[in-house]
Amino acid sequence: MNENKTNINWYPGHMAKTKRLIKENINLIDVVYEVIDARMPYSSKIIDIDELIKNKTRILIMTKSDLCDLEKTNKWVKYYENKGYNVLLVDLEHNKNVNKILTLTNDLMKEKFEKDEQKGMLKRRIRALIIGIPNVGKSTLINRLVSKKVANVGNKPGVTKNLSWIRVNDKIELLDTPGILWPKLDEKNAFNLASLTAIKEEVLPIYDVVEYILRKLEKEYPNMLKERYKIEAIDEDIVETLEKIGKKFGCIVKGGIVDYDKVITLIINDIKTGIIKNITFDEVSDYE
Ligand code: G4P
Repeated sequence: MNENKTNINWYPGHMAKTKRLIKENINLIDVVYEVIDARMPYSSKIIDIDELIKNKTRILIMTKSDLCDLEKTNKWVKYYENKGYNVLLVDLEHNKNVNKILTLTNDLMKEKFEKDEQKGMLKRRIRALIIGIPNVGKSTLINRLVSKKVANVGNKPGVTKNLSWIRVNDKIELLDTPGILWPKLDEKNAFNLASLTAIKEEVLPIYDVVEYILRKLEKEYPNMLKERYKIEAIDEDIVETLEKIGKKFGCIVKGGIVDYDKVITLIINDIKTGIIKNITFDEVSDYE
């Protein structure tokens, strides 16, 4: 595999429409929750988001803290904080730190809303919009924020251009449809995205993705390779390594031959289900 030679030509067609919708409605929004995956704080970030949301107040929400390598991801938290972002690392699976989002939102908006009130403007809820690439946890975040069964706030024609809002509490409401966008898929982040399941595996050759995962584990997390796959080092020819793993896990077809597809599925699922966790695939040192 040579990841630098991979040519990824994939940018879903509906993206232009989503961008237009965000652009048209961004003025209604007070705060943007930009959601990224804590295991890939660079690769899962939408490159041109600044152009879209301009100077809107923003909270960068890193989800899946339970699955990330905290040491590495905390470097990313600092990296973004140094760039002036408000960053929150959350675990939506176990509902950790989710309340901080609401507290921070109120803090960030306090001054603006007080001023608006002084100007005699009608009191209203803070309006938030969630934006992120697929699979980073946008729907889960909505469910966590709206922890009780809360009625959809419904349409407010004229004011909201028929968008509907979900009430989070008496102070905050969410645009009910998150903005789903994609980062530009360059070679470097595409493999991270594919490995950590944010893009469909078929966008990149699945064998290359699995080779990438195994080599990344070997380099950054050799203990996991040992513990999970009982492997000390990845062979130059990846097929040999897949063969070893296949034999150990009984991925065998008739005649004792290793079923490579099964091995591939096993490894991909290990990441999907969190059997392989405490990993962060983006290195802050590559971007400093
Ligand atoms: P999206 O709307 O941005 O596309 O993402 P979604 O909420 O559907 O989340 C994608 C997957 O990531 C879901 O798993 C979800 O449970 C999981 N997830 C989201 N946040 C966290 C987190 O902080 N920690 C962990 N461990 N997992 C998280 P799934 O297997 O696709 O679906 P599900 O059946 O588990 O819900």
